[in-house]
Amino acid sequence: MSLHDSIPNNVDLGHDRKLLRALEKWQPNFKKWWLDMGPDGFQEDLIWLRTAISVDASGWAHYDYVRMPDYRWGIFLTPRDKKRTIDFGDNARHEAWEEVPGELRGMLRRIIVTQADTEPASVEQQRQLGKTAPSLYDLRNLFQVNVEEGRHLWAMVHLLHQYFGRDGREEAEALLERRSGDADKPRILSTFNEPTDEWLSFFMFTMFTDRDGKYQLSALSESGFDPLARATQFMLTEEAFHLFVGETGVDRVVRRACEAQLADPNGDARNQGAIDLPTIQKWIHFWFSSAVELFGGEISSNAADYFASGLKGRHHERKKYEDHTALEGVYRMPVVEGGVLREEEVPLRNAMNEILRDEYVADCERACARWNKTIRDAGITDFQLAIPSRRFNRSMGIYADHPFSPTGELISPEQFEARRSEWLPTPEDRAYVRSLMKPCYEPGEFASWIAPPRKGVKGKPVDFEYVKFTTPRA
Ligand SMILES: [Fe+2]
Ligand SMILES: [Fe+2]
Repeated sequence: MSLHDSIPNNVDLGHDRKLLRALEKWQPNFKKWWLDMGPDGFQEDLIWLRTAISVDASGWAHYDYVRMPDYRWGIFLTPRDKKRTIDFGDNARHEAWEEVPGELRGMLRRIIVTQADTEPASVEQQRQLGKTAPSLYDLRNLFQVNVEEGRHLWAMVHLLHQYFGRDGREEAEALLERRSGDADKPRILSTFNEPTDEWLSFFMFTMFTDRDGKYQLSALSESGFDPLARATQFMLTEEAFHLFVGETGVDRVVRRACEAQLADPNGDARNQGAIDLPTIQKWIHFWFSSAVELFGGEISSNAADYFASGLKGRHHERKKYEDHTALEGVYRMPVVEGGVLREEEVPLRNAMNEILRDEYVADCERACARWNKTIRDAGITDFQLAIPSRRFNRSMGIYADHPFSPTGELISPEQFEARRSEWLPTPEDRAYVRSLMKPCYEPGEFASWIAPPRKGVKGKPVDFEYVKFTTPRA
C-alpha cells in the first residue's frame, strides 16, 4: 500500500515509472475539472469525509475533516487471485486475462469509457445542490458521494492508462472534457444529462441511477479481464453508501410527508411545507423510467457479445448460476405486435440486459416495500407507493414507441397524454419542490420537507458538525 505517494495506490505505481508519470500528468487536469465542475462553493470548508486507504474489509476507510480539493483520490484494486479463471461465455475455464486480448480491445475500451463517463457526469449534475442542503448531515453525504464518484473516475482512468496506451490516454482526457447537459459535448448516457437541481431528485438519483451503477459494476466484477473485475469489486464497496443515501433519503421524505399530512387539518402535506406522497410518486415514475433505460436494449447482440467473450457476466454469475454458457434456454419477453402485448422467446444471451434489469427492478421493489412500511407505520392506510412497470415512459428500446400506463398496460397516445400530469412531474410540481429548497446549515436542524435520519454517520450523532464552514454563509 503506498498511501504517501502523489497518488495513493495498492497497484505498485512506484515501480511503473511510465504509468506513474502519465497519471501524474492527468492529475492536475482532474483537479482543475474538480474545481471547475465539482461542488460550486464549499471547496475551502472542512467536510467530515471518509477516504479509502486500503481494501481490507475490516478497515478500508479513514474518517476525518478534509477540504475537498485535498481529498486523496487513490487507486485501489481488490487483491489478485492468481488462479482465477474466466467463469462464463465461450472462453470459460481459460485463465483470466491480465492484459487486454487484442480482439476484445475495442469492446473493452467502450465498456470502460461508458462506465467512466458516468462518474464525473453525476458530480456535474449535482454541483449546485450544496447551496440548498436540508441539513449538514445531508450536505456531508452529498460531498461524500461526489468525492467517491471522483475516485471511481480515477479507478477507470487507471485502467485506460495502464492497458490502452495512447488511445487510453486520449479517452482519459476526453472524460474531463465532456460536460453533463452540454449541447455540443454531452455525457454519453442520456440520464447523466438530466439536471439534478433539487434534493428530491438527488435522492431519486442515488436511489435509482446509482443503483443501475451497482448492477453494471456487479456484472463487470465478474469480468474475465481481471484488472476490471478487481477495480469494480472495490468500487462496489463505496457504492453501497451512495445507495444508502438514496434509499434512506426517499424514506425520510416519505416519513415527513406522512407526518405533515396527518398534522394538517385538510390532510395536505404541502400546507405544512412537506412534499406530498402523490408528488413523491411522480418523481419515482420519472427517475425510475429514466434509470431503467441505462440497462440498454431488451434484445441486444452487443450484450450477447459481451457475455460470449467473457467481458461482462450476470449479477453474481459465479454464485447464482449453474450453466455459465447460456447457450440453451430462452427468456420470455413481452413485446408489442400488431397493437397488443404478447410474449416472445428470446435466446438467453441476447436477453442479458433484460436479465440484469430484472435484478435491478426486484431491488427497487424491495426498497419501495420499505417505504410503504413507513407509510403504514405512520398510520396511513389508503396510500402506497409503487415502482412503475419497466415499459412505462421509455424513450429507448422495444417499448419506446408505445405508450404504457405505470402498471404496464398498452394504452393509446391520447390516454397517455390525458394522464401525463397525474403520472409525471408537472412544471408546477417542479416549481413547488424547488420552492422548498432552502439551506439548513445549523447542526441537528432539518428542512421542513425531510425527517432526520435514524442515526448519524459512523457513530457520530445526528447533530454532529459534519461540515465546518471556513467561509461565511450567505
Ligand atoms: Fe460511481
Ligand atoms: Fe455512486
